[in-house]
Amino acid sequence: MHPDTIPLVQTSWKKVSAIAPQASALFYQNLFAADPSLRPLFKGDMAEQGQKLMHMIGAAVNKLNDLPTLVPILQSLGQRHSGYGVQPAHYQTVGAALLLTLEQGLGDGFTPAVKAAWTEVYGVMANVMVEAAVEA
Ligand code: HEM
Repeated sequence: MHPDTIPLVQTSWKKVSAIAPQASALFYQNLFAADPSLRPLFKGDMAEQGQKLMHMIGAAVNKLNDLPTLVPILQSLGQRHSGYGVQPAHYQTVGAALLLTLEQGLGDGFTPAVKAAWTEVYGVMANVMVEAAVEA
């Protein structure tokens, strides 16, 4: 990872987690606008689902400098996701919805460097999750 990536992601995530309920609602709006066929995969309460998502992204962001701890957590998350009907291609749609949400939430704070940092981090998370799901 680029040396600036971890601090850029951690600092910008603090701003987003300050508005976590709005950010997660916006994220699902963006996601279902991009691909309405993903909506039926989500069976539970969306506010609760949003909390879990924000919690997990926050935990991952805090563990970026401790990959030996983070990687197995993401591997089991990825394996659970194939049980939810999630396909590898869906990770691209989710990544684009996440970046759009960060742009909307951070405004001017969504600089090209912040965008590049999040693209890198999401790419790593998604790769670990997809590979674990494929191997399972
Ligand atoms: C970095 C990527 C992702 C993270 C951090 C993440 C996080 C989570 C978390 C924490 C949960 C709660 C359940 C559990 O822990 O097993 C969950 C459930 C779920 N996620 Fe994800 N997820 C990611 C990617 C995706 C993608 C690409 C999709 C595709 C649409 C997706 C769809 C779902 C669905 C359908 C559920 C179950 C909802 C239900 O039970 O009704 N997630 N996710």
